[in-house]
Amino acid sequence: MVHWIGTSWKMNGTQDFGENYAKKLREAKVGQVEGIQPFIIPPFTLTTTVAKALGRFSGVALGVQNAHWEDSGAWTGEISMLQAKDAGAQVVELGHSERREYFGETDETVNLKVKAALRNNLRPLVCFGEPLEVFEAGESIPFITAQVDAALDGVEDTSSILLAYEPIWAIGEKGREPNPEDLETAFAELSARYADRVEGILYGGSVNHDNNQWLLRIPGIDGLFIGRSAWTPEGYLENIRLAKEVIG
Ligand code: PGA
Repeated sequence: MVHWIGTSWKMNGTQDFGENYAKKLREAKVGQVEGIQPFIIPPFTLTTTVAKALGRFSGVALGVQNAHWEDSGAWTGEISMLQAKDAGAQVVELGHSERREYFGETDETVNLKVKAALRNNLRPLVCFGEPLEVFEAGESIPFITAQVDAALDGVEDTSSILLAYEPIWAIGEKGREPNPEDLETAFAELSARYADRVEGILYGGSVNHDNNQWLLRIPGIDGLFIGRSAWTPEGYLENIRLAKEVIG
């Protein structure tokens, strides 16, 4: 079984940064580590730069952080799945909580985008997660499974889809690191419901070099989706090295 371990740079990085990061990954041959499928998701403006710097046979999957459900048209400020694919992407991240909170992403638009991604031969990486008050009320499971069910609704073949459970309370500078107990029940449930239907179920939210290994030992966690601790090539490569020790 392959473990997907990757990062989104969110709204960080200019051309030199993207080129240098990709070059370091290529030199480290990170795409040849057995048992790990690395992926990186730069901002749109760096897609072609990173694709070129990685080269065709890097083994690193390249993604974009969002794309529209229509292939073309009057949608100012958007890019389509077709354009993302054309720029070199293989993966499209969908439904991140920052997009849901600040840019009006809903379960319905995520579902439309999952279908558009598959139509364009892009692999959807569907993010979902509950806010703190839902977690504290002990209602995480119905909340997150409803999000996943909505994202997959009407999709016949879900086998290429990646799911990423990213509790909102654990994400970013304001987030708090999870404990194993916070995640074990959720991943048991997610795994029972979806593991045999999708490519993998990842965890994201304050992943760092200290928690990377115990996270990967939680049953049901198939990979990691990393923010801050992979925003330098060295930080990302250290995450891969630590993961490899666990995966063997
Ligand atoms: P973080 O971001 O690792 O910086 O908390 C995670 C994410 O938003 O996917």
